[in-house]
Amino acid sequence: MRIEGAVTRSIWVEPDGWAVGIFDQRLLPWQVERMVLREIGGAAVAIADMATRGAPMIGAVAAYGLAFGLKADPSDEGLAASCEQLRVTRPTAVNLLWALERVRRVVAPLPPAARAAAAHAEAGRICDEDVAMNRAIGEGGLGLIRAIAARKAGAPVNVLTHCNAGWLATVDWGTATAPLYLAHDEGIALHVWVDETRPRNQGALTAFELAGHGVPHSYIVDNAGGLLMQQGAVDMVIVGTDRVTANGDVCNKIGTYLKALAARAHGVPFYVALPSATYDPATATGADVPIEERSGKEVAFVAGEGGHKVRVTRSPVRNPAFDITPASLVTAYITEAGIAAGPEALAQLLAGQG
Ligand code: MRU
Repeated sequence: MRIEGAVTRSIWVEPDGWAVGIFDQRLLPWQVERMVLREIGGAAVAIADMATRGAPMIGAVAAYGLAFGLKADPSDEGLAASCEQLRVTRPTAVNLLWALERVRRVVAPLPPAARAAAAHAEAGRICDEDVAMNRAIGEGGLGLIRAIAARKAGAPVNVLTHCNAGWLATVDWGTATAPLYLAHDEGIALHVWVDETRPRNQGALTAFELAGHGVPHSYIVDNAGGLLMQQGAVDMVIVGTDRVTANGDVCNKIGTYLKALAARAHGVPFYVALPSATYDPATATGADVPIEERSGKEVAFVAGEGGHKVRVTRSPVRNPAFDITPASLVTAYITEAGIAAGPEALAQLLAGQG
């Protein structure tokens, strides 16, 4: 991706070869600020406070965070404590657990003095693989967009997406956005409906990305999707996910489920883009996924340019951050290993990946 004219990833190793840089997503799209992480505490706070966010990015930051923790205390007790400190930052995205376990497996057999460097190197591999996986997801999704474009004979393909599953949420490309970028780059006429995604407005991040890439898009309130589908103004929905369970249920940002219901009612295909790191065959169904409940302040206030906040209610609020879309509402899963039309095909496709 390209930001302020420079080609970069969403997470990078700083010139000292050890610290890592990320964009502070709390300030986007208004301000592009980089922040440097070099201690486990900083990495944990960045995840918990959503300075960094999106399932694959959370995993990448946690992997580097574990390396930082091991530099401070590489003992077995230190390894367990660092894993726990990072694990509790956010409960829903399985990529966090996946990345910690992957790094833990690599470093546990090593002598303590070798652990921090090995963890850092493994975190780097996780990042490189994430870029490749998203690119492959992009190629798979591109085929789906091409097929719709062929039917529409030059009229724009209208894609609706929810939340931000873009390059900010991953190391590069994004999951749901990778097909969009590739389609746009190959000259397919495209228009993206970007759900605002209250309360954190991740849609503003998606809009920021699409604008930077020159992809035509419109920012819509979360409740507009149903009408647009009813009017035939949506050709397909593509969303990312924080966890897909063994039965194919999809946990993603709150509001995804309503879009899937509307899509089914109006015969609009509903695609879920995921890397294998987001697949959780150890969890049976969506009902078993811990749904993060965030501060009510996120709902009681709306935040705007410059971080200005305005209170919209004094009533008690609930703020569940994710919901579950049943597998039966998913047209297909777009993965780095190909496209799966159902949970069984997904399990077969991702067996041995990740
Ligand atoms: O709370 P967030 O912003 O971390 O939630 C992000 C999402 O729900 C994304 O859709 C998901 O993590 C996929 S990102 C490729």
